[in-house]
Amino acid sequence: MQSVKIGILGLGTVGSGTVNVLTRNSREISRRAGRDIEIYRAADRDLDKPKGCDTSAINLTDDAFDIINDPDIQIVVELIGGTGVAKELVIKAIENGKHVVTANKALIAMHGNELFELAQERGVTISFEAAVAGGIPIIKAMREGLAGNRIEWLAGIINGTGNFILTEMREKGRDFADVLAEAQALGYAEADPTFDIEGIDAAHKLTIMASIAFGIPLQFDKCYTEGISRIAQEDVLNANELGYRIKHLGIAKKTTSGVELRVHPTLIPQRRLLANVNGVMNAVVVKGDAVGPTLYYGAGAGSEATASAVVADIVDIVRALTTDPENRVPHLAFQPDALKDTPILPMSEVVTSYYLRIHTLDKPGVLADITRILSKEGINIEAILQKQPEEHEGMVPIIMLTQAVIEKNMDQAIAQIEALDTVPDSIMRIRMESLGG
Ligand code: HSE
Repeated sequence: MQSVKIGILGLGTVGSGTVNVLTRNSREISRRAGRDIEIYRAADRDLDKPKGCDTSAINLTDDAFDIINDPDIQIVVELIGGTGVAKELVIKAIENGKHVVTANKALIAMHGNELFELAQERGVTISFEAAVAGGIPIIKAMREGLAGNRIEWLAGIINGTGNFILTEMREKGRDFADVLAEAQALGYAEADPTFDIEGIDAAHKLTIMASIAFGIPLQFDKCYTEGISRIAQEDVLNANELGYRIKHLGIAKKTTSGVELRVHPTLIPQRRLLANVNGVMNAVVVKGDAVGPTLYYGAGAGSEATASAVVADIVDIVRALTTDPENRVPHLAFQPDALKDTPILPMSEVVTSYYLRIHTLDKPGVLADITRILSKEGINIEAILQKQPEEHEGMVPIIMLTQAVIEKNMDQAIAQIEALDTVPDSIMRIRMESLGG
């Protein structure tokens, strides 16, 4: 049988990894796919730059449109990233009747609805396993392995750079900026590292997972996103002292009033498996009504780890080349006409418990004022810790854990406490999750 010809767009970290994996494991891959897969062409805008793979047998071009317009190519592998030229290329590839494999989370999270519709019209597939949690097959697990479940919630560490920073801060007391520079040097961070630190990268991935979990259209613009740049070393230590760890989580939860879709730093109990996922590793817990909690763990970034997901998608497409497009696994797990318009809840309606760090002046009655405000807003205190003033330039850090409360009440309480003369600094608030089964 003739080989299937693929064209790769972008020979950066993931593109080179894909060439290496496809080449090194070609025999095993052909045995699985039922056909040989040939890297027929590859495009990179800078062909003079040394690549992380052997390109001697590949027909190279610096114009990605050469690949999109090549009639011999059946599968286009988009590894350029971003929503500019990558979007244009993917649309043109679909219009030319090619299947697309992409690792581009921003593209899928922001434009997936229209791209899937176009792909469906043209009878082709867009596969995007590598867009979420790198090498972890989380899309396949949820879309196929959990197809019998009503998924109740999922929570994940889905940005390796952020997790690396928080781990190093906790384990070695290292400085935020210093750890970020190391993550960039290791090739984990996004081109714009604010995407990692401010949670945008995680929000892209969470948006995709939530759609697959709950059968809703992709709604990146409704995802609440808060980064880790305000987390101080003292918060990391306080959490530890109270039996928790701070993790930058993406959380999607189905409630009776809608779907919660949120990325933010979160205190989770130290004993949870997720609390022990360290460094650049990713992990996602998915709770299904039938299966209970399930955990998926692995490398969320890196050249060959991400290539592992890219190649799996290529194999899936090759296996299904001759099937009727209507009978393929739907892009978002649910049939396109069965997606539901369940509302995404605004953050003010989300119910969670909180860690509060309040720096106060050392005066009598300060704690009484704070607890009075919390009580007026119906907020129950779970634990309280007061630190020595001298360690904090004369200020007294008060650490509180609260019971669950609707976020709008907490917003009001924080505004009132910050208005007190005895509370000169803004309050640090970190949401908490028990992540119990
Ligand atoms: N910048 C991402 C991370 C790469 O650190 O996880 C994988 O999406």
